[in-house]
Amino acid sequence: MKGIILAGGSGTRLHPLTIAVSKQLLPVFDKPMIYYPLSVLMLADIREILIISNPNDQPSFEKLLGDGAELGCEISYASQDQPNGIAEAFLIAEDFIGNDSVALILGDNIFYGSGFGALLRSHLEPSGAVVFASRVHDPERYGVIEFDENQKVISLEEKPVNPKSNFAVPGLYFYDNQVVSIAKSLAPSSRGELEITSVNNEYLQRNELTVGVFDRGIAWLDAGTFESLNQASTFVKVIEERQGTKIGCIEEVAFYRKFIDEEQFKRLANKYAKSGYGDYLSDLLLRKSPHPTTRPHK
Ligand code: DAU
Repeated sequence: MKGIILAGGSGTRLHPLTIAVSKQLLPVFDKPMIYYPLSVLMLADIREILIISNPNDQPSFEKLLGDGAELGCEISYASQDQPNGIAEAFLIAEDFIGNDSVALILGDNIFYGSGFGALLRSHLEPSGAVVFASRVHDPERYGVIEFDENQKVISLEEKPVNPKSNFAVPGLYFYDNQVVSIAKSLAPSSRGELEITSVNNEYLQRNELTVGVFDRGIAWLDAGTFESLNQASTFVKVIEERQGTKIGCIEEVAFYRKFIDEEQFKRLANKYAKSGYGDYLSDLLLRKSPHPTTRPHK
């Protein structure tokens, strides 16, 4: 399965922070924002990843992540000239996707929770589409799912004025190969975008949409406004400092998912020897009993 991180957009809700720097490169506590969605794809054992950004920011992403070989991944890059909508990702990525299935994650979405990696791995190579539903107090900001009493999906609406439920669709989607032709058939919405909710509605019409509901043990944050960016940093800081384990640490995921061996991992740790980040990586090798969620995969 291939993976796409959509990291474009103009970040206007974060101006002036994002005038000279891409939103998805801003710090969320101790690492660039894009580490979080990248770690999610890696947790799902997805190693072929396309990062879509606006053309000006592409060199910065390349400087940060290179070709991904250090992480045991293959990372490539493409640009989106204008923010024409999330579903445009599938048109830009058509050649990259080829005949495969694909996961899309938005570059400003952060996930954390017990069993999250296993949940992701249970949805690889879907037949149809798999999206998730997460309870929020402000559903009008998101794509919203309405369920009937048997938890069957009745409707999906993008930013409804009167939401029919409190269940929002997070920016993490798994699709089979039909997604490319579906994206090609879309017309722009009234706000001029190719909407991801229209893609999901098409799968719903075809009776090929599966919705996994996050229980309250899975945290989903986005980081697109001053408030939510700050909340995300605080959340990561509190958990990391309390537990001594990092969230969104791509080097750690690469090692524990066996994308890289111990020697490669040590080289990464040495690269960051002068910051606490490198100390954390070095310490992982010394831990006698790793944290259960980071125990090497059998
Ligand atoms: O965060 C989840 C929500 O993301 C979903 O519930 C909604 O259904 C979905 O439409 C989307 O809503 P947002 O209002 O958050 O979308 P936004 O325009 O802020 O874009 C989300 C990210 O995708 C942002 O980091 C920028 C990037 N993006 C967006 C568009 C429209 C692009 O790279 N290119 C684009 O054309």
